[in-house]
Amino acid sequence: MITGGASGVGACTAKVFSQHGAKVVIADIQDELGHSVVEKLGTSNSSYVHCDVTNESHIRNAIDETVAKHGKLDIMFNNAGIIGKDKSQIMDNEMADFERVLSVNVTGVFLGIKHAARVMVPARSGSIISTASVSSVLGGLTRNAAVELGQLGIRVNCLSPYGIATPMISTYSGFTAEQFENWMGSCGNLKGVTLKGEDITNAALYLASDGAKYVSGHNLFIDGGFTVVNPSFGMFSTVS
Ligand SMILES: NC(=O)c1ccc[n+]([C@@H]2O[C@H](COP(=O)([O-])OP(=O)(O)OC[C@H]3O[C@@H](n4cnc5c(N)ncnc54)[C@H](O)[C@@H]3O)[C@@H](O)[C@H]2O)c1
Repeated sequence: MITGGASGVGACTAKVFSQHGAKVVIADIQDELGHSVVEKLGTSNSSYVHCDVTNESHIRNAIDETVAKHGKLDIMFNNAGIIGKDKSQIMDNEMADFERVLSVNVTGVFLGIKHAARVMVPARSGSIISTASVSSVLGGLTRNAAVELGQLGIRVNCLSPYGIATPMISTYSGFTAEQFENWMGSCGNLKGVTLKGEDITNAALYLASDGAKYVSGHNLFIDGGFTVVNPSFGMFSTVS
C-alpha cells in the first residue's frame, strides 16, 4: 500500500513496485489522479482506495480492504505529505497551518505504522517505509517503531530526500521543474546529478526487498550529502 500514490514520488513508486511484481494499492485523496495511475498500471496489478491519512477510520479501512483483497500486507509505504505555506519566519505562521502539516506528515505516518503493524504483527513479517524529509521529525518515530516491531519480525525505516521537482514543489514555490532543480543544484552538495522521484523509489524498493532483510530503524538520507555539510538545515531559516 502506498499513501500519496496518486502523484510524484508515490506514483513513481507504484509504477516501479508493480514492475517488480507487487500488487499495489494506491491510497490518496486525489481520486481522479489515483484512478488514472491504476489505469496506467492495469487493474490486475493495482487498485485505488480513497484514504485521507489524517483520518484513522480511512487508514483502518484502506488496510483492511488491502488485506481482504490480497490476503496480507507485505509493504506499507507512508508517503503522503504536504508542504506548509512559504513563510520562513515562525512569527508569520498560523497555528492552524502548522497543525495541518503535522496532521498529514506526522500523525498520518503514525496511523499508517499503527494499522500496518496491526495486520503485520500476526504474520510476524512486513516492511514499513515512510517518506520523511531532511528537515522532519519522522526519524525518531521510525526508530521507536523499529525497536518495538523488530521483536515481532517487522522492519521499519524511513527515507529523507533533498528537494525533488514534484507537483507539491511547483505549487509551493511557483518554480518550473527546471528552475527548482537549478536552485536545488546550486544549494546542494553533490554536483553533476539531479535528484528525481525515481531515486526515492529505488531506495524504497531496496528497503522493501528481502535484500534489506536486516535493515531496520534506519533514516536513509537521499540528499547528496547535504545534511552532512549543513547539519542544521539552515537553508529556509533566514531571519531578516
Ligand atoms: N518533493 C520534495 O522536494 C520532497 C522533499 C522531501 C520530502 N518529500 C516528501 O515526499 C512525499 C511525496 O511528496 P511529493 O514530492 O511526491 O509530492 P506530491 O504532492 O506530488 O505527492 C504527495 C501526495 O500525497 C497526497 N496527500 C496529501 N495529503 C494527503 C492526505 N491527507 N491523505 C492522503 N494523501 C494525501 C497528495 O494528494 C499527493 O498525491 C511527501 O511525504 C513529501 O513530504 C518531498
